[in-house]
Amino acid sequence: MSGADHLTAAEVAELNREYTFYDWSAQDTVKAVAVESAEGSYLIDHDGRRILDLNAQLMNVNLGHQHPTVVAAIKAQADKLCYVNPRFASQPRGELGRELAQITPGTLSKSFFTLGGSEATDHAIKIARLATGKQKIVARRRSYHGATYGAITLTGEARRWATEPGVPGIVRAADPYQYRCRFCSGQEQCDQRCADDIDEVIRVEGPDHVAAVIVEPIAGANGVVVPPDGYLQRVREICTEHNVLMIADEVMSGFGRTGRWFAVEHWGVEPDIMTISKGLTSGSVPLGAVVVSDEVAHHFDKHRLWAGLTYGAHTLACAAALATIQAYREEGIPERVIDLGSVLATEYAAMAERHPSIGETRSLGLFSALELVKNRETREPMVPQIDPSFENSGVMRDLGNFMLEQGVSTLIRWNWIFVNPPLTISEDELRSGLKVLDAALDIADQAIA
Ligand SMILES: Cc1ncc(COP(=O)(O)O)c(C=O)c1O
Repeated sequence: MSGADHLTAAEVAELNREYTFYDWSAQDTVKAVAVESAEGSYLIDHDGRRILDLNAQLMNVNLGHQHPTVVAAIKAQADKLCYVNPRFASQPRGELGRELAQITPGTLSKSFFTLGGSEATDHAIKIARLATGKQKIVARRRSYHGATYGAITLTGEARRWATEPGVPGIVRAADPYQYRCRFCSGQEQCDQRCADDIDEVIRVEGPDHVAAVIVEPIAGANGVVVPPDGYLQRVREICTEHNVLMIADEVMSGFGRTGRWFAVEHWGVEPDIMTISKGLTSGSVPLGAVVVSDEVAHHFDKHRLWAGLTYGAHTLACAAALATIQAYREEGIPERVIDLGSVLATEYAAMAERHPSIGETRSLGLFSALELVKNRETREPMVPQIDPSFENSGVMRDLGNFMLEQGVSTLIRWNWIFVNPPLTISEDELRSGLKVLDAALDIADQAIA
């Protein structure tokens, strides 16, 4: 160690490795970038190197790093009141609840605040069970809903394995993953049998026993799976028909990421419960929420809400969220995402022409991923199997290393490369990041040549 106040990147990385755990990993495999500061679309490491953040960290820093409106609001609130216990009322909390009632669709009107997305999921299940008096929850196979016990049991993908058997009462249905769909991938047209599967699961499990169906409107961590038009409307109909609540997990897809406040708006769907986090504070202070419809909210007028968290509705976090929403409005974020999203889609189309390793590109606004394959005809994935960790193997790892050496950070899992930048990114910054991605894809092409 240098002994001076300012540590080098290597010293900070070593200090973190020795005394702290990293997520989802065997600790010896982690090679972390030591970040000292950040601004806009860039991270700055302890050696002063600037790195373009092409995935807004975990698709959450939607306003870019250190947004001045948000930083100022946090400072002002910290000077006045950092915290009161959630049985007390505070102005930022009340105003945030009102804002959320305004910007969320339909009759969603009342919020229970948590510390992040996983706890929002857990509380959404609890609320659905309490409000309906029913137990079972239908979740989909290619999904991620969080790491706490309830949320990870709902999660369909491999990160669930280590926590099995998890909490009882969770059943699983198919997803609208057209590229690898067991119902319709060989067909001209999708006939949405994946939605019918949800209907069948509810019938088999018993509509009188199923409290809710939970869906990510666009499955995020599992490859940004944009559903076919009509799918979410059909899921809504199925839920209504069986008197089952529809929970939309908008933790990743919300707050302008797709060019609307919330992804469900693209299909005019009104869920009964919505979970939110990530873009809610743009990563500045941890906060999540479960926003419920009037009908669900009124159930708790006379029935006890069996839920409480010491740091629920944290005053600093609520102030940060209010300022974040104000900045989204002032900067016309959803509208600019539509414009930048078409730049991204055009660039993706050109890359797909150039690179045989691209199997499919998927995007809606600035919510996007590329899926790499060994063979376009057979769709054989570039690397064999999804790993529960974020440790990439083979070509995918080489590709990520190359991008980082070129000063661009993004998220890579299995055979997906994610591009979900801050929504404030400039067109030039976006194009420069995509140029590095384009060069990195040569590595994948060479591997299958
Ligand atoms: C759709 C979705 N739900 C829930 C979560 C869990 O959120 P958190 O990591 O804040 O607990 C995530 C995290 O990536 C997510 O993508």
